[in-house]
Amino acid sequence: MDFAYRNGALCAEQVPLEEIARRFGTPCFVYSRAAIERQYGAYAQAFADRKSLVAYSVKANSNLAVLALMARLGAGFDIVSGGELARVLAAGGDPRKVLFSGIGKSETEIEQALQAGILCLNVESEAELERVDAVAARLGKRAPIALRVNPDIDAKTHPYISTGLRQSKFGVPFAHAERLYREAARRAHLEPVGIGCHIGSLLADPAPWIAAAERVIELADRIERNGIALAHVDVGGGIGIRHKDEPEPAIGEFIGGALRALGNRRQTLIVDPGRSIVGNAGVLLTRVEYVKPGDARNFLVVDAAMNDLLRPPLYDAWHEVRPVRESQASAALSVYDVVGPICESADFLARDRRLAARAGELLAIMSAGAYAMSMSSNYNSRPRAAEVMVDRAGAHLVRRREQVPELFAGESIPAW
Ligand code: LLP
Repeated sequence: MDFAYRNGALCAEQVPLEEIARRFGTPCFVYSRAAIERQYGAYAQAFADRKSLVAYSVKANSNLAVLALMARLGAGFDIVSGGELARVLAAGGDPRKVLFSGIGKSETEIEQALQAGILCLNVESEAELERVDAVAARLGKRAPIALRVNPDIDAKTHPYISTGLRQSKFGVPFAHAERLYREAARRAHLEPVGIGCHIGSLLADPAPWIAAAERVIELADRIERNGIALAHVDVGGGIGIRHKDEPEPAIGEFIGGALRALGNRRQTLIVDPGRSIVGNAGVLLTRVEYVKPGDARNFLVVDAAMNDLLRPPLYDAWHEVRPVRESQASAALSVYDVVGPICESADFLARDRRLAARAGELLAIMSAGAYAMSMSSNYNSRPRAAEVMVDRAGAHLVRRREQVPELFAGESIPAW
């Protein structure tokens, strides 16, 4: 498939990862164009000929090459900041397919979105409704809006990435929605065009996701009975991916459930997936610096760290670790923690893995296409990794490795 062994060497499509490490160094993120296109295709296929929009959630992986690929496939974009809007526009994305989510949009960001002519602002509070109205009035525009409602449904995922419960900071309470829509419809500079929800990320079970879609669609009916026409229903993202040997959540089951809930209503169904498009389309390529046997645990110290991939320390996330040389796999195995050079005990990429790596060898941390580079930092003054997009036999550098002087280029010492 996209990352498979060929003649004993782990490859991205047709390119050996060893060659990528030689050309671009490590740590390095490697993405497969074919994998991204296939995942987008799974959504397109599930929607068949229904009125729909796949709005790729930019936060999952915001590299311009990924965004440009999505734009070429016809995708829209789910953004959460002015920075993401600028990226989408720079990558050639169509602003008329952009939805702007998030609970803390600044006036500047709202203005940028209205000037760009986006599809819709997903408003998350009454205070934001007022702010959008005021900015639109100042610009002499009508702002297309949807309310993100909180359906109070447990997505049964990690609490940090669960967003659809009543106690969550996201969305407006279900019970307030009708009143807020009437309020929005009264204001001259707001135009309600849709409704949305998003209950969480990394969902394995379609049932809560479909239940949320059903609730939101029923609410849309009630709002329409108030004389407010809604052109779209946005049921969020959140479909999970396979990390280990669990079954792969079937995109078709999720989408099929939402389409059934929508029935023959005329609305466009919008989804905003991130991880399920790019998660398994990327790996983090890293080199073993040291093998460090210990009294209680053995460590493989690698050149990637929690600043490159924060998910294991933050969510206790499990990422498969594969040796890049298959022969390593059959050599004498020991149990290791794969750790980075950062001065934190939380700096681990994987724990308790049977591996046979020696110093200098390459490892691939799998499922690193989503929420990896996009959550990276410069902690410990570590330059950010390079990013490479593989397309069949070609490997393209899509972000060069950060250079140390860039890390403090914006800093200055006062003339004290
Ligand atoms: N739509 C909205 C409104 C969202 O907040 C998110 C993700 C998505 C769509 C896309 O969700 P996805 O399809 O990627 O699951 N950093 C965490 C994930 C945080 C997700 C935040 N919101 C992680 O690494 O697991």
